[in-house]
Amino acid sequence: MTDVQAASDAADSSGKTSLTVRDNRTGNEYDLPIVDGTVRAADLGQIRVDEEQPGLAVYDPGFVNTASCRSAVTYIDGDKGILEYRGYPIEQLAEHSNFLEVAYLLINGTLPSKQEYGAWEHEITFHTFVHENVKRFMHGFRYDAHPMGMLMASVGALSTFYPDARNIGDADNRHMQIVRMIAKMPTLGAWSYRHAQGKPFVYPDNELSYTENFLSMLFKMSEKKFEADPRLVKALDVLFILHADHEQNCSTNAVRSVGSSQVDPYSAVSAGVAALFGPLHGGANEAVLRMLRRIGKKENIPSFIEGVKNGNEKLMGFGHRVYKNYDPRAQIIKKACDDVFEVTGVNPLLEIAQELEKIALEDEYFVKRKLYPNVDFYSGLIYEAFQFPPEMFTVLFAIGRTPGWLAQWLELVQDKEQKIARPKQIYTGDRTLDFVPAAQRWA
Ligand SMILES: CC(C)(COP(=O)(O)OP(=O)(O)OC[C@H]1O[C@@H](n2cnc3c(N)ncnc32)[C@H](O)[C@@H]1OP(=O)(O)O)[C@@H](O)C(=O)NCCC(=O)NCCS
Repeated sequence: MTDVQAASDAADSSGKTSLTVRDNRTGNEYDLPIVDGTVRAADLGQIRVDEEQPGLAVYDPGFVNTASCRSAVTYIDGDKGILEYRGYPIEQLAEHSNFLEVAYLLINGTLPSKQEYGAWEHEITFHTFVHENVKRFMHGFRYDAHPMGMLMASVGALSTFYPDARNIGDADNRHMQIVRMIAKMPTLGAWSYRHAQGKPFVYPDNELSYTENFLSMLFKMSEKKFEADPRLVKALDVLFILHADHEQNCSTNAVRSVGSSQVDPYSAVSAGVAALFGPLHGGANEAVLRMLRRIGKKENIPSFIEGVKNGNEKLMGFGHRVYKNYDPRAQIIKKACDDVFEVTGVNPLLEIAQELEKIALEDEYFVKRKLYPNVDFYSGLIYEAFQFPPEMFTVLFAIGRTPGWLAQWLELVQDKEQKIARPKQIYTGDRTLDFVPAAQRWA
């Protein structure tokens, strides 16, 4: 239990940790237990006017104040700008760990021993290849297919290559699919990119690290061995770590929701990729780049800021539903920016971004509303420095998020309390209309 939850569960002077609700329709009072800072929505069901009426429910579009699960994967304190995976601060993981180790941590809950890490790295490395038919169907997409559409379809299609994945009750089987998915995502992501470029697909190189191999599959041409600058490899690896999980966000909720039907994990993760495809979720960094390009030069910033304050548009890459102090990932990315630009040369848009941030952070409009740069403010600039086209940005996000989706899926399928996701609704349509056959209606 977290400190916040412990405080919110603290008993009152009479020793109760409950919520007393008085239904003014009936005058009845109910005592609802408070556990971990929550009341059970199902407990509200007992509150009813009479036996004929349905019990009281909560209405919560967008789940803004509804906990859908218990999870030990990721902790976020938005007010304090804290993000932890399995209890480890994101700053420490980004600085001292690597993406594969973080993936192990998310999936298994603890850091690996040397032996465990060796076995994990070996397993992932030797499952990076995909069936040749995957390559064939990927070639079948239109020449300008969006790489996220290709990724979503090909991850889902993996379920047809591994029908054993439906056996989600078996722990070894689950592990196998998790390894396969983390291993194959970079292959599918890189091939989605190469398809749009009209370039031949590059097979995985098992002598390279996870992130080096991804860069090789993306950019290798005729050279015998692709060698990426270690600073770029480290920066991309850090970006993967920063994106690896973010508790119950839209795509993770999609994975859990679809997974709750007990479908195989490839199908569930393809739902996560679909959710991430949406501009409100994975697409904000692309919007930041468009915005910076439109601003064009530093002199245009004051008039742009005025427009934002007048409500004409948003300052993209600023603000967050959860982080109301700062986004810890944004600070780490800023540092990664410096390392990348040391190799690639400075992106001229960086100057505009930095000036924009400086002005906004001093401006009362943004200060009052607690609007700070989020993870997307600088990530797009880095991705552009790698020469990724904007459509690829979300694919990179998806590769990073895969261990998080899978850790959450694993937790879901082992959680005895979970049921098939099936929210209630408030019905607003017509009732008991008499159907008139078409022949009579159109006569
Ligand atoms: C992320 C985001 C959707 C969070 O939204 P939210 O938690 O629902 O916050 P709200 O939309 O209620 O915003 C609160 C106030 O700040 C303003 N605001 C929020 N983000 C803003 C932004 N980026 N630029 C200007 N004003 C912004 C809202 O207009 C609102 O002002 P008001 O109180 O005068 O009406 C929102 O900040 C946003 O759209 N940011 C830009 C897109 C982005 O970077 N998304 C990536 C998120 S990782």
